[in-house]
Order: sequence, then structure tokens, then C-alpha cells
Amino acid sequence: MIQNKYPSFENNTERCVLAGLVRSGESRWQLEDQLKELQALAKTSGALVIETFIQERTAPDPAYFIGKGKIEEIRLFVEMNEVNLVIFDDELSPAQARNIANALSVKVVDRPALILDIFAMHARSRQTRLQVELAQLNYLLPRLTRQWQHLSRQIGGIGTKGPGETQLESDRRLVRRRIAHLREQLKHIDRQKNTQRRQRQDFFRAALIGYTNAGKSTLLKALTGADVLVEDQLFATLDTTVRRLTLSERTTILLSDTVGFIRKLPHQLVASFRTTLAETLEADLLIHVVDISHPRFREHIDVVSRLLNELELSGKPRLLVFNKTDRAKNQTDLLKQIKTLFPEALFISASRHIGLNHLKTDLQKIAESEYETLQLRLNYHNGAAEHLLYPLATILHKHTDEQYLYLTVKFSKQNRTQIQTIANKFR
Ligand code: GTP
Repeated sequence: MIQNKYPSFENNTERCVLAGLVRSGESRWQLEDQLKELQALAKTSGALVIETFIQERTAPDPAYFIGKGKIEEIRLFVEMNEVNLVIFDDELSPAQARNIANALSVKVVDRPALILDIFAMHARSRQTRLQVELAQLNYLLPRLTRQWQHLSRQIGGIGTKGPGETQLESDRRLVRRRIAHLREQLKHIDRQKNTQRRQRQDFFRAALIGYTNAGKSTLLKALTGADVLVEDQLFATLDTTVRRLTLSERTTILLSDTVGFIRKLPHQLVASFRTTLAETLEADLLIHVVDISHPRFREHIDVVSRLLNELELSGKPRLLVFNKTDRAKNQTDLLKQIKTLFPEALFISASRHIGLNHLKTDLQKIAESEYETLQLRLNYHNGAAEHLLYPLATILHKHTDEQYLYLTVKFSKQNRTQIQTIANKFR
């Protein structure tokens, strides 16, 4: 028997191998980079990656995704090296996952399942837990077969966290009922959050977005002092945090940080996370944070842009911010090149507090150009006017005389028509 040169079992650590496919028109080095990201995901999930298998094929095999010969190669390796998990970089069809698991006799997890697993691990708030469970059940539903249940019950660990065994063991009808129940609960939370968001409508709202690990939480913390989780981990933040950021005596904005994006983000998650993403969906400005020190940062920019398209956000004003410049300071050519390509972009280091004043000045300019201040004279005896203005504007100054109420209001330009209508009505 071949000597095992790989690290041995550590308590509950799962020993895994990764598998990926280079299709025609794709390059091997590109897949190798993608598998590095898969490795980081596996590590975040608590697995120990001990080998990587790559196959080149014109298209995926309908039954085994990669070729049968490669499956046999993996089977031998798995057997000799006490591997108990195989992770595929793509989404497998339910039949492919079943066939591969049968052929290898170990647990098989695809990329969406791994990401869902990490989300389940990091979910803190009730809303996030419900959203992740909903996404997991939608992922599981077409895969609920007796064989799959049998494997997951036997093995446990990665790919089986979250909803738990009871759901896996129940039949499709029960899962569907649970999905309906989760949707109902999420609708209820969404209504509550909606009310909170409406109360904040008079502020200019900027949302931090970007690829996972770009430094969004670090930036929120650096700008607002918010006590948020900063981790060198993928998907450390799953909830949305909103903080006030005072930019000048006259201008305070709301800044939010939310879940990061990634290549091939499971569509079930995008659908489930609408409530978490609401702050982003309704923001006046998106601050797109990019980790400039990452070798694939251009691809990260494209992935984020594609997801914004999917969320119908591509038309929103966007500010591109290259972060972690402290790690790229010796790469002057690269920096020059990026500055030429993205002349409007800002360059910062969130953790070292470099370039933050420049960013704040830009935010102030943008926020102020979005707002207007107006003096109104309203008929006082018709008391409802002020009440109607509340959700639309901030009242900066107020005084009254016998007949009139005099208000100085500040509001987002998009509320101008509604405010004019109210002013005319109560003239
Ligand atoms: P997700 O929660 O995965 O979406 O990540 P995020 O975008 O919120 O990133 P986070 O702020 O958690 O930062 C990820 C890692 O990058 C942490 O280890 C930070 O300390 C590090 N980091 C953030 N900004 C900088 C920076 O300007 N320079 C350097 N060198 N590291 C940074």
C-alpha cells in the first residue's frame, strides 16, 4: 500500500478532495485559480483539502460530470487516503451527484451545497437563519431521494448542516410545507424591516457591496466605528448592518454593509436573501469595494456586476473603491494601469485608514447633490401637512404664527414632486 503522505485525521476534520472540469474554450490555469477559491471555501467550512483533480473535456458527462476514468482515479485515491468528502466546483444535477456518490462510496458535495453550508454556519440573526434554511430546502427538494438521505444520515458534516436530519428524512410534502411556512415568516420580517426602512427615507443611503473578503466590514468599521465582525474568512458577514455616517455639519448619511458576492453564488441564495439585500436594493449609491491585492480582482468586478444585473441594480449610481492598496504599494505599474482604466475610482486601505478622507469628501459631494432644501409655508389649521411630510423629508427648522406653519425641509430630489403636491394642497 502507498504511504500516506497527507496530513492525518484531526478529530472531526473532514478530509476532502476537490474536482473541477476544464471545458473547451476554458484554460487550465483559470480553473486552477477557481479551485483555490473552492479550497478557501472548503477551509472556511472546516474541511482539510488534500488533493485536487482536474479533467479537460469538451462538455460535462451527463451521468458523472467528469469522465468515468477520472471517477475511478478519484475512487482509488479516496480509498487509499481515508478521504471522506469529494467537492465539485460546479453544480451537479441530482442524478450526477447520486451516481458519483455511489461510485465513490463517500459523500459528494457540489459548490452550491458548500456555499449553503458556510451560510448555515455563519447565520446569526433569525432572518438570516430562515433565509438560509429556505435556500437549503429549495436546493434539497429535487435531490430528496432515499439514497441521498441514507448517505447524509450516515455521514453528517459538511453539506448536511442547517435544516438538520429531521427535514432530510421527511418527505417532499413536508419540505414543501416547511418552505411555505418559512416564506410566510420571512414576509412578516420583511414587512417590519420595510417600516424601519421607510422611517429612514429622508437620509441619503449608501450601500457597501463587493466580492466576499474585499474588506466591506473593515471599511464600515473604519468610517463609522461600527462594531462589526471582521474576519479573514469567506462570508463572515451575512446580515445587513446600517450605521450613520456624519460627513459635515449639514450632511449625515446611512451606510450599510451586507453579504458578500461570489462566483456561482447559488441562485437559491440570491432568491432567499432579498430581505437582507433590501437595503442595497433601495440604496441611493452603491460603493463597490474591490480587493486590489487579489490576483483575480478583475474577475471579481465582473462577478459583482453580473449579480447587480441579476438584481436589476445595474442602473444605480456606483462608486468604485479599490481597497487593500497597502498590499499593492510595490506594484506601481498595476496601480497606474488601474487608474487609467478606472479614472473615477478611489484607492484606499480600510484597515490602515488610508484614503478615507478623500472617500468621505466624495460621499459628501454625491449626497449633497442628491438633496434639496426648501422653505415651506403651510396652512396651520390643516394639521395633517406636517404628518404627510415626515416620511419624505427631514424637518430642519420649524416655527408657527397664528395661521401658518413655516418649515425648512431637506429631502432627496426624488421626493420633490410629492412634497410640492403637499405644499400646494396646504397652501
Ligand atoms: P465578507 O464578510 O466575506 O463579505 O467580507 P468583507 O468584505 O466584509 O471583508 P472583511 O472586512 O471581513 O475583511 C476581510 C479581510 O481583509 C480581513 O482579514 C481584514 O482584516 C482584511 N482587510 C480589510 N481591509 C484591508 C486593507 O485595507 N488592507 C489589508 N492588508 N487587509 C485588509
